[in-house]
Amino acid sequence: MTTMTVELGERSYPISVEANLLSQASLLSPYIEKKRVVVVSNQTVADLYADKLGTILGQVKYDLILMPDGEQYKNLQTFEQVIGELLTLGAGRDTILIALGGGVVGDLTGYVAASFQRGIPFIQIPTTLLAQVDSSVGGKTAVNHPLGKNMIGAFYQPKAVVIDTTTLSTLPDREFAAGMAEVIKYGIIYDLAFFEWLEQNKQKLMDKDPDALAYAISRSCEIKAEIVALDERESGIRALLNLGHTFGHAIEAEQGYGNWLHGEAVAAGMILAAKASEAKEWLEASETRRIVDLLSVFELPLDKPEGMGFTAFMKHMRHDKKVAAGQIRFILPQGLGKAVVTSDLSESLLTELLN
Ligand SMILES: NC(=O)c1ccc[n+]([C@@H]2O[C@H](COP(=O)([O-])OP(=O)(O)OC[C@H]3O[C@@H](n4cnc5c(N)ncnc54)[C@H](O)[C@@H]3O)[C@@H](O)[C@H]2O)c1
Repeated sequence: MTTMTVELGERSYPISVEANLLSQASLLSPYIEKKRVVVVSNQTVADLYADKLGTILGQVKYDLILMPDGEQYKNLQTFEQVIGELLTLGAGRDTILIALGGGVVGDLTGYVAASFQRGIPFIQIPTTLLAQVDSSVGGKTAVNHPLGKNMIGAFYQPKAVVIDTTTLSTLPDREFAAGMAEVIKYGIIYDLAFFEWLEQNKQKLMDKDPDALAYAISRSCEIKAEIVALDERESGIRALLNLGHTFGHAIEAEQGYGNWLHGEAVAAGMILAAKASEAKEWLEASETRRIVDLLSVFELPLDKPEGMGFTAFMKHMRHDKKVAAGQIRFILPQGLGKAVVTSDLSESLLTELLN
């Protein structure tokens, strides 16, 4: 088993990664002792994994709250539904929540945990690749508002992240590919050697080779943990994790949440960012090619949606959370393995890039 720690002083917590972790009761027991346990999931994931989780919870009595499945339900209505069910169950401050599912379940459960009776602990058991390498780590919790994604939320860290890579065996291929976009992102922004490892091991990853998967997930979590420990609230380096997200969020919002998967929009966004870097001579054409080639192995979108141009992008990007002092901020690669935050993209360059 690989274990990493997100170093945040008294709020530090472990991330454990291994196949079949959902059969190791000892991982959860320190957190659930003398606690009332409530698992939050959705029907899809609960059908697959709630029994398994129930087995390791053993004698511990627990309740299960199901939320509807889909990005369109990561909203205040579902937040209220889950809070309502907790109150009906008589849950109190001695309760611990376990988020069992993808990023939607994790983000919403985390925000419920941050808010319920002014904050109760929670554990992340992510079951999609995207949630395992990204959303379960780092304490960003949120729900969407009709006017913007993740517009309501809190920084609130889990007590532990338990990653059972075996859960990926039931994940649809398209969801797996979307998670790979975030894995590739870590190589581009932070770690050339990891990017090269991904190039060399792409077939193994496509075949879901257990060792290759465990390494890709562990290295991604390690990089995220390192960055979060340096900048928990995203006042500096953490913004680099948003490579491709300024363009990507605009794509998701314009197409309607859930039509393009988050990772798919990020893939197309990372290519736009690479092209912008190339125009600024921060990236060689051959390096953009390597990014495109790696993303294409996983059959991720390599271009923005047809018909979506400058005006549509700008409409959404002006509301991006990264806008500072009226300036849209972009994350752009500077060579492979390094990236910077910049507002220095001229309107003419953006017009050329997006039209
Ligand atoms: N908090 C963060 O730092 C952060 C970072 C990145 C993304 N996000 C958020 O994550 C969300 C996307 O998460 P996601 O990609 O995991 O999507 P998701 O949670 O919607 O899961 C995708 C689908 O897979 C199903 N599923 C989950 N695990 C499964 C399994 N093991 N087998 C079969 N089906 C399974 C789900 O029920 C769902 O239908 C977005 O809301 C995004 O904003 C948050």
